[in-house]
Amino acid sequence: MNFLDNLPRPFFVLAPMDDVTDTVFRQVVAGCAPADLYFTEFVNVDGLQSPGRPNLIKKLKFTDSEQPLIAQIWGMKPENFHKTAQELVEMGFAGIDLNFGCPQKNEIKCGACAALMNNRDLAVEIIKATQEGAAGKIPVSVKTRLGFAEVDLSWHEFLLEQKLNMLSIHGRTKREMSKVPAHWDDIGKVRQLRDKISPKTLIVGNGDVMTREQGEKLAKKHNLDGIMIGRGIFQNPFLFCKGRPCKWEDYSKQQKIDLYKKHVELFASTWQEGERPIVTLNKFCKTYINGFDGAKEMREELMHCSSTAELTTKLISV
Ligand SMILES: Cc1cc2nc3c(=O)[nH]c(=O)nc-3n(C[C@H](O)[C@H](O)[C@H](O)COP(=O)(O)O)c2cc1C
Repeated sequence: MNFLDNLPRPFFVLAPMDDVTDTVFRQVVAGCAPADLYFTEFVNVDGLQSPGRPNLIKKLKFTDSEQPLIAQIWGMKPENFHKTAQELVEMGFAGIDLNFGCPQKNEIKCGACAALMNNRDLAVEIIKATQEGAAGKIPVSVKTRLGFAEVDLSWHEFLLEQKLNMLSIHGRTKREMSKVPAHWDDIGKVRQLRDKISPKTLIVGNGDVMTREQGEKLAKKHNLDGIMIGRGIFQNPFLFCKGRPCKWEDYSKQQKIDLYKKHVELFASTWQEGERPIVTLNKFCKTYINGFDGAKEMREELMHCSSTAELTTKLISV
């Protein structure tokens, strides 16, 4: 038994998104309509176990309101996964997730993330090192894609043989990046494999889900334990609302501005000068400052602010 077994079915997960799902945004989402499970941004274990640690450790910052929270890690050296897993247990994370799906050039070039689909010997060493580091105290999971160049279910068979607590599948191959619609039928096939190979591994589907209702339908159709949502949160910070959907378009201009102000203030009190560039806030501007007269002009003004103080002043004055 671990905490995953006690989550509702289907459970809804806020997907890991680098430069997006930091502690600040997770707190904002939790304050609007909490997800059942959160992930950190991906953190490089080889960097973490090097003199570069201070730059990366901040990605692991969290508060009691973003719970349960899984730390997502990536890298190349099994010994660094082992050491990091021990540390993550001590830090109080609810689980550890291995990123075996990121398709970006930098990660692929060094043989990490989605490239591990083509290096299963290293993938298994990484999983084992992490599981040993976690020592059964917290669950270990993997987030991956459907394959490298083509859909390749032998990869999921292989992963299911590793006694993972959870397997999250983004329904595209590495080659497809984000360019085609997610293949949910193939996610459903992995779910069927799970029954044969590893009945205790929870299966989470991911890709293009924009509303909770859509996620519920997909979970039912493909018999999935959980649904992970990434970019949909940009369309509606209240996306995880249970029962009657909270529609972002029904919120007033003032409510939207107030929520952005809350986000900016939390950002300012969480991150010291330069710890996180202010431009990362621009990713959210379009979410909050949207759907009312003058929103475009207001965004243009806000996105040129060079400090959180200037941003807050502008948000108060509108
Ligand atoms: C800006 C951005 C950053 C991302 N960073 C990560 C990451 O750190 N780790 C990860 O596993 N996936 C990452 N992803 C992929 C998402 O977790 C998710 O798999 C993908 O966006 C598909 O889901 P969606 O259609 O619900 O957005 C990122 C995606 C985006 C858009």
